[in-house]
Amino acid sequence: METRVEIADFENWRAAAAEAVKALKAGEIVAVPTETVYGLAADAFNAEAVAKVFEVKERPSFDPLIVHLAKASDLARVAEVPEEIAPTVRRLTTAFWPGPLTLVLPKTPAVPDIVTSGLPTVAVRVSKHEVMRAIAKDLGNPVAAPSANRFGRISPTSAGAVMAELGGRIPLIIDGGACADGLESTIVAVEAGEKRPTIRILRPGPVTREQLREFGRVVKAGRVTDRPEAPGGLEAHYAPAPPLLLFDRPEDFVPEAGKRYGLLSYRGEPRDGYHGRHAWAHVEILSPGRGKLAEAAVRFFFALRKLDASGVDAIVAEPVSEVGLGVAIMDRLRRAAAGSRDSS
Ligand code: TXA
Ligand code: MG
Repeated sequence: METRVEIADFENWRAAAAEAVKALKAGEIVAVPTETVYGLAADAFNAEAVAKVFEVKERPSFDPLIVHLAKASDLARVAEVPEEIAPTVRRLTTAFWPGPLTLVLPKTPAVPDIVTSGLPTVAVRVSKHEVMRAIAKDLGNPVAAPSANRFGRISPTSAGAVMAELGGRIPLIIDGGACADGLESTIVAVEAGEKRPTIRILRPGPVTREQLREFGRVVKAGRVTDRPEAPGGLEAHYAPAPPLLLFDRPEDFVPEAGKRYGLLSYRGEPRDGYHGRHAWAHVEILSPGRGKLAEAAVRFFFALRKLDASGVDAIVAEPVSEVGLGVAIMDRLRRAAAGSRDSS
């Protein structure tokens, strides 16, 4: 299959969105930009189209998809918000939509079971990316879209990265430029609490724990369902081809003779203990000299992809501090390391 790329720049984005809508209406799947990572989109109400998403991604059927709405007032089409959490859900959607916050809520019968992998809940958000919202609006149905990578691989933050992942497998990529956030949305479930509602973070992301505190008692994942795999993703994920190594302390890294190591560095500072430690074969720096977590987040998957392609035998990753966006970055690093362990 030939994969066409439509550029959705300032002048052309409406035409590009129209191309995407045409394909989606025909039951095709299309890679689309969002502010977090690129998504592989299908009409959420077309079960056969959604099945193609699973097939092309090689995604196991037990891992449910995120549904994207054109606007917050469409929520009732896919979710039945229980009364006891409705005020909190409204506050959250008002504060963060459109944006990188995904809510897990009880689903309506309109959402096909294949979208939610048979779960009674649906994960839903409104993307900040204008092109993605225009597509959902003109399609007239919610858009189911997981990240546009093959299962277990690095999420794509550019149309080029989508092409590397899925070129030849899908008919169309809408190129809306580099993703502004660079990490997948924060996923939360809301529960009514005795005094305050509980906001359970199922996957850390661009909306941070600190930002969510205003809306309830914030707790970390655990499990939302009794299926360990489904909610918030599998432990092993984001795996580059060479193993990714994470150490508690830089001194714990002991290179094996003859092996070429790449470094994923936060600031590129020798005083952080990694940069000057070894004759690295390839170095990627997330926030050169500055140490800004937002910059590191935007560049994260891009840098990981470059290290992946660099031909090194293993990648050593510097940890970042676990505050704000650092929580989401460390989550992705740990899963990438877990993925490496599983496949080696
Ligand atoms: O930023 C994002 O969220 C991107 C863009 C494209 O919107 N999408 C994304 O989708 O990251 P995906 O499929 O790669 O990750 C969705 C995660 C999965 O880990 C899945 O297990 C979880 O959402 N999820 C989906 N439905 C769920 C549900 N009903 N309950 C718990 N977790 C759910
Ligand atoms: Mg994904």
